Formats: sequence, C-alpha cells, structure tokens
Amino acid sequence: MGWWLKYCGLWTIMTIIVSLVQAEDPYRFFDWRVTYGNIYPLGIPQRGILINGQFPGPEIYSVTNDNLIINVHNDLDEPFLLSWNGVQLRKNSYQDGVYGTTCPIPPGKNYTYVIQVKDQIGSFFYFPSLAFHKAAGAFGGLRVLSRPRIPVPFPEPAGDFTFLIGDWYSHHDHKD
Ligand SMILES: *[C@@H]1O[C@H](CO)[C@@H](O)[C@H](O)[C@H]1NC(C)=O
Repeated sequence: MGWWLKYCGLWTIMTIIVSLVQAEDPYRFFDWRVTYGNIYPLGIPQRGILINGQFPGPEIYSVTNDNLIINVHNDLDEPFLLSWNGVQLRKNSYQDGVYGTTCPIPPGKNYTYVIQVKDQIGSFFYFPSLAFHKAAGAFGGLRVLSRPRIPVPFPEPAGDFTFLIGDWYSHHDHKD
C-alpha cells in the first residue's frame, strides 16, 4: 500500500509539472493606427507620424515569454514598416521589419505582427524602417520585464523612465 501511494503521489506531481510546462504563454493585444499629425519637436509645428495619435508612439510593456499581437493599420498615403530594434523574434524572425525581409504595409491596409519576447530582459525600441519615416516619428519604447517568479539580482528601482534620445533633422516635412 505504501508503495502504491508513493507511486500515485509521484504520478500526480509529474502530471502537474507536465501541465505547467504545457500552459500557454500570456498574450498581449495591441491595435495601432498610424497617421500624420502635427508635432512640435523644435517648438514650431511640422508634420510628423503618430501612432494612436501619440508622438513618440505608445510604449509596450511586456514580460519574458509574452506573445505580442500588434495589429498595425497604415493610414498614411505611403507604405509603412516597423522594425523591432534588437528584439529576437523567436519563430517569426521574418517579421524583423527590414525592407527585403518583411513586406511593407500598403497605404490603407493593416498587418498583424505576432512576436514572442524571450529571455531578453531590458529596454528596446521600435522604429519605422522605410524612407525617412524615423525622422518624422512612429518610434517608441519596448520593455521586456523579468517574470516575478525569477527575481533580478538588485533591489526594485525607485522609479523607471524611458528616454528616447536622437538627432532631430529639421522642421521640414519628411517627404521634402
Ligand atoms: C486587419 O485588421 C482586422 C481588424 O481590425 C483584423 O481582423 C485582420 O485580421 C487584420 N489583417 C491583418 C492582415 O492583420
């Protein structure tokens, strides 16, 4: 009887472990609309590229293993393409967003990036890779946080901010 109980206990534990391993990683869904809009980086209005009306674009907070489903609607009158700088796109590396690897999103169309962030705890950014778009906006921050179960070897920071630093080219339209 003792032998049987031990066997059953072990079997239960193994079943639990297998089901934990098979549990699907979490999903985060984003719906982004890319438009032109007025921005004032040099204090005077100029035409920029906004995502959901924002410049810089929305920041993505994610946790390692998250699946990011990002539906990007291109409301510009020109093709648009996003690149995920330095992010390893496991299983979907063709979505890197560099012209030649990924097709641009035609004007008036949308495309859904399906990305899993893995084991790259840190801060990244995304940017538009076609034409001179990145000189007009449509870039933003992307965080990959550690899972709470896996502690980081330093105390929790008192604050956490995203800085996007770069040259600003001119007050002219990016098409000029
Ligand atoms: C375009 O967006 C619609 C919903 O807004 C969605 O149902 C469809 O799957 C998207 N198409 C692509 C190619 O991502």
